[in-house]
Amino acid sequence: MSEKEKVALRYDRWTRFYDLIDNFPLISRPQRGWKEAAVYALELQGHERVLDIGTGSGQILTWIAPCLTDGMVIGTDISHGMVKIARERIERKGLKERTHAVYDDIEHSSFPDDHFDRIIATFTFTTIPDPIKAAKECARLLKPDGSMIILDTGKPRGKYAWPLFVPMMLSAKLFGRTHMDRDIRELLEKRFEVNTCANNFLGMVYLLKCTSL
Ligand SMILES: C[S@@+](CC[C@H](N)C(=O)[O-])C[C@H]1O[C@@H](n2cnc3c(N)ncnc32)[C@H](O)[C@@H]1O
Repeated sequence: MSEKEKVALRYDRWTRFYDLIDNFPLISRPQRGWKEAAVYALELQGHERVLDIGTGSGQILTWIAPCLTDGMVIGTDISHGMVKIARERIERKGLKERTHAVYDDIEHSSFPDDHFDRIIATFTFTTIPDPIKAAKECARLLKPDGSMIILDTGKPRGKYAWPLFVPMMLSAKLFGRTHMDRDIRELLEKRFEVNTCANNFLGMVYLLKCTSL
């Protein structure tokens, strides 16, 4: 089984519990704030075509959709289970007109060049099996005047945070096939101009804004 199949299977298995974990107050409160900041950083006017990579249960699709007047938001994922619950959420919230959830692999996306005004990825780049291919695809999909917002986890800044970081990183690898020790910023800088919008949780959660070079 390839690493990608393992990631998809892991998230398929998590489908039933994902929203439960997401709504657990200790996790959901700070996460919600960080994700809201990521959506705010998209600076939407209303007409944009937005791509949410690795949408999971589609939570932020339902926050982006009300910001759009004649635009559209598409959430993609390689987990069929996640796509299914994202679709159910869209249906439940009555947002079908401007919101879609589809199966698509960001390492080999089926969307055409320069298709999106905005791209967003929240806690996705650390789970994508080949993030270098994904960054290349994002550069292809984003319009030259577009922007991409990345919210993700990384190594802490100060040495005192490492005793907290190491067990979190190991359990994320074991249970979520997530690589918190990946340097996402470095690989994005090969394709984009990257600016840091925010650093939270001792530098372990960061928000990046990427524009074309
Ligand atoms: C940690 S979850 C984040 C979900 C959501 N963005 C959130 O913030 O709650 C990562 C998601 O990325 C998806 N994913 C991993 N590799 C992917 C790829 N190559 N293309 C699209 N989605 C991918 C996983 O299936 C999973 O649903």
